Amino acid sequence: MYVSSVELVKKALAGRYAVPAFNAENLEMVQAIILAAEEEKSPVIIQTTPPTVKYLTADQAYAMVYAMAKNSPVPIALHLDHCPVFGDVMQAIRAGYSSVMFDGSNMSFEDNIAISRKVVETARPMGVTVEAELGTLGGKEDNLEECETIYTDPVQAQEFVEKTKVDMLAVAIGTVHGFYKGEPKLDFDRIKKIAMLTEVPLVLHGGSGIPDESVKKAISLGMCKVNFATELRAAATKGVRRVLEDVDVIDPKKYMGQARAEVAKLCKEKIRICSSVNKA
Ligand code: 13P
Repeated sequence: MYVSSVELVKKALAGRYAVPAFNAENLEMVQAIILAAEEEKSPVIIQTTPPTVKYLTADQAYAMVYAMAKNSPVPIALHLDHCPVFGDVMQAIRAGYSSVMFDGSNMSFEDNIAISRKVVETARPMGVTVEAELGTLGGKEDNLEECETIYTDPVQAQEFVEKTKVDMLAVAIGTVHGFYKGEPKLDFDRIKKIAMLTEVPLVLHGGSGIPDESVKKAISLGMCKVNFATELRAAATKGVRRVLEDVDVIDPKKYMGQARAEVAKLCKEKIRICSSVNKA
């Protein structure tokens, strides 16, 4: 079934697990994510970055996800990931996205509050979930600009949530987008403090490359949505490369089918790490 994500993450908060949020780039990745969620009986959030929306268009991304989600036994939300432009958030909602992230993390604290609140006021009456970000995630997401980590201040997070009334909050606690150059160091105390002061479902970005035990610990402290993108892209590409080693292969079903199989296998592993098996 096609749903919004707020109920999924609220249930996860109460049950101390996380809803996996997987970035998809094309039809086969959407199929792979849904297949994995159905096999593991897990709720799932499928998300697209603004560059992916530009590539697919919001209408086509929605049409694809909705066509597969409407008859699925598991709850599936379609979420816009890291969108810094109010108008683009509105376009995604108009296209049918059930969940959006307004990313004002590069703005002043006051502007981030003002626009995040405006997004909430507009989206909520339409039943659309809103995620916002405070602090800045390091690394590079898709072909968006590379950022330095600015850790989320727990007291500011409390004020931010009170003033914006967002449904879920992305926080910077040491994870980065993309593959890690060194050992990832997560600030677990910071998660605990933010969770205590805000009481909203928290979102862990930069899920690729974090040791499984660290993801599980972050979830036990209040992370209710965990984002995975880079590892899925790498798995899809690995599948295509392997099949195309045979230069006689010319059928896209062969290499894209292998990409789909690799992504589905990885998603199942991540679903187990999030402890969302049988939570659909
Ligand atoms: P990774 O690419 O590091 O998995 O991060 C995904 C993410 O946070 C998407 O918003």
